[in-house]
Amino acid sequence: MADTFQLSRRSFLRQTVAFSAVPALQPGRIFAQGADFAAPDPNAQHMFMIGDWGTDKYIDQQKAVSFGMRTWMGAHHVQPQSMFLLGDNWYGHLHEGLDDERWQDQFENMYPANYFPGPAYAVLGNHDYEKSKHDKVQLQLDYPKQKKTRWTMPAKWYTFKYPAQNPIVTFICLDSNLPGTKAFEFMPGSYLMSHAEAEEQDQWFQTELAKPRTTPFLIVTAHHPLYTNGIHRDNHVLIPRWDRLLRDHKVDFYITGHDHDLQHIEFDGHPTSFVVSGGGGAELVNWSVPPESRGPFGGRVIGFTHLEMARDGLTLRHVDSSAKQLHAFRKTPDGKVTLLRS
Ligand SMILES: [Fe+2]
Repeated sequence: MADTFQLSRRSFLRQTVAFSAVPALQPGRIFAQGADFAAPDPNAQHMFMIGDWGTDKYIDQQKAVSFGMRTWMGAHHVQPQSMFLLGDNWYGHLHEGLDDERWQDQFENMYPANYFPGPAYAVLGNHDYEKSKHDKVQLQLDYPKQKKTRWTMPAKWYTFKYPAQNPIVTFICLDSNLPGTKAFEFMPGSYLMSHAEAEEQDQWFQTELAKPRTTPFLIVTAHHPLYTNGIHRDNHVLIPRWDRLLRDHKVDFYITGHDHDLQHIEFDGHPTSFVVSGGGGAELVNWSVPPESRGPFGGRVIGFTHLEMARDGLTLRHVDSSAKQLHAFRKTPDGKVTLLRS
């Protein structure tokens, strides 16, 4: 199962310089590496993130990731106050709509409230944009309005500050299912957001970014990566629309799913750390380019991402389904990234 790659500092810098031949991605970023493994701080805020988890074929893998999260909690004496669901929340059908048993089997009971007591924020993936008997997008918007649940999706795109008191992070949650992002139809009824919705969201996104920062960190989440070493490749619909905004507003993290793996990509001179966390349960897929071509980390594994939040720094850990930490880094409010020894 495990198929991971982690760059040494020397090879990371060499690869970074090689990649920087791409005009938009210039050199200049400095990294520190080698800080010791730091155990999760139980006094910090903790969010567990999964993408591509609502599989209709690989339930055992989804269960393995859920058990891995619980094992990790026990081993490190931490409990997440929240989850983040990074899209492709529902593959296949929800035949019974809001009453389909999959809501219980694959969400409410799969991530039981005694382990995951807080809200589960969600964004929409390409597999959520499928209509058959029901429109899975509308179901996900309606579910928290009609059911007692931790599922939290107030709109297709939304923002919140976290935690509510003395917030550390502003989250801007986007719908990345823009026109042009589906290369082919996955199933009958597959569709995308309209051009008008995409324009409306972009206007809203720019308005939110332009507001004065009130938190030490700003994280943008969506389903589709801009940059990925995975099978879906760099997204040439999203890059021209959003990369400049991430740079100009010094967004600290852009966190997504879509590729069924765990990745961390940094570009010299780019203020944003790009994270892919698509290992929630769906089938593993291959790399489109070797992960060592752009690092510092790629893991072709099922697993999850543990985001630890404190005012003086965010620590992001990629953890596999056996609760083994594969990769970790810390980012401070000055933008400095430090890779942590696993
Ligand atoms: Fe996807």
